[in-house]
Amino acid sequence: MAGIYIHVPFCKSKCTYCDFASYPREIGKSELYFACLYKEMKAKFSQMKNKRFQSVYFGGGTPSFIQPKFIYGAMKLIYSECKLSKNAEITLEVNPGTLDEGKVKVYKNAGINRFSVGLQSANDETLQNINRIHTKQDFIKCMYLLKDFNTSVDVMVGLPNETFDDVKNTIDLATSFDNVKHISLYTLKAEEGTPMFTKYLNGELLSDDEMAEIYEKSVNYLKEKGFNRYEVSNFCKGNYYSKHNYNYWKRGEYIGFGVSASSFIDERRFTNTENIDNYCKCILSNKVAEIYSENIEGFERNKEYVMLLLRTANGVNFEDYNKIFNSHFTKDFEKAIKNNLSYLDINDKRIKIKDEYLFVQNSILVDFIE
Ligand SMILES: C[S@@+](CC[C@H](N)C(=O)[O-])C[C@H]1O[C@@H](n2cnc3c(N)ncnc32)[C@H](O)[C@@H]1O
Ligand code: SF4
Repeated sequence: MAGIYIHVPFCKSKCTYCDFASYPREIGKSELYFACLYKEMKAKFSQMKNKRFQSVYFGGGTPSFIQPKFIYGAMKLIYSECKLSKNAEITLEVNPGTLDEGKVKVYKNAGINRFSVGLQSANDETLQNINRIHTKQDFIKCMYLLKDFNTSVDVMVGLPNETFDDVKNTIDLATSFDNVKHISLYTLKAEEGTPMFTKYLNGELLSDDEMAEIYEKSVNYLKEKGFNRYEVSNFCKGNYYSKHNYNYWKRGEYIGFGVSASSFIDERRFTNTENIDNYCKCILSNKVAEIYSENIEGFERNKEYVMLLLRTANGVNFEDYNKIFNSHFTKDFEKAIKNNLSYLDINDKRIKIKDEYLFVQNSILVDFIE
């Protein structure tokens, strides 16, 4: 089973921390972009007739910003050109400043059954400072429109001038809606080239230790609210984990369409260009729009599998690993395990990073992938 990712590279305006492939000034190219995207989808699906898909994810950028007919068109193509499971999870990312009743109706008709809403903060001053296009009140209105749908909310930790109490308020607001079953809690990353990076260079952002402290408190607070951590940055009630993302972490296959979209199919990882014009030129001249491609071979596959699953709270199941790779986990990673014993939680069935060290998992993972 595989996932489908569709990238929508348009936003109303750019948030000060964001370096995703999204171009507010290019919205005039949306007709051309979707014509190319549909062409890419048809061409790739025709080569994957044997694959079955269990999730679709519209990410961005802001998929809820563009005319909803483009989302409907993409879903229509998916239903006609590939094998999509009946109970597929179909998610669309939403910026609260862009939703209306008409759009939600079209999404419902298109089969969207899960929404991921970017709140980031419940503090209007913070939202304004980071150039978000919405207020706390807009989020509340947006949640009213989505009240019948399984919904996830994005919250950010470490935004300028925010304390743990701000994050707590944001979590309180997000979790006050019954249909919110999932929270993604991201620490602010100061990406080079963004206005936020200048703030970082000026020493205006939290230190790593301050960030870690607020994050840990937030994790505990989410737990009190019934949201359990199942991956480094992801929390859910009951069994409402993101199927689409869990597929990435268990090294499942996925096909990505559109600018900057990545794919992993038949042991090959490949990524499209981030440039809309180059993307359209390639697709219109019947070429692929890839700027990166790599076949993953030999033991690299084992390392990827372990690195990805160690991000999750379940970790790596020995029996699964040994079966998939016809090998022996504890022998293959003997040295890495020894070096990190105090950070790992191991029993006879599985190995995982202890909850309290998930935040610093990168420094542990290097031993598993070197
Ligand atoms: C594509 S956006 C979600 C949908 C919509 N574009 C929005 O922002 O409301 C994906 C999420 O990534 C997170 N994000 C983006 N840039 C980030 C950064 N530099 N550091 C941490 N989180 C970031 C935000 O929480 C954001 O909601
Ligand atoms: S709305 Fe989302 S994708 Fe667009 S700039 Fe802001 S964080 Fe980035």
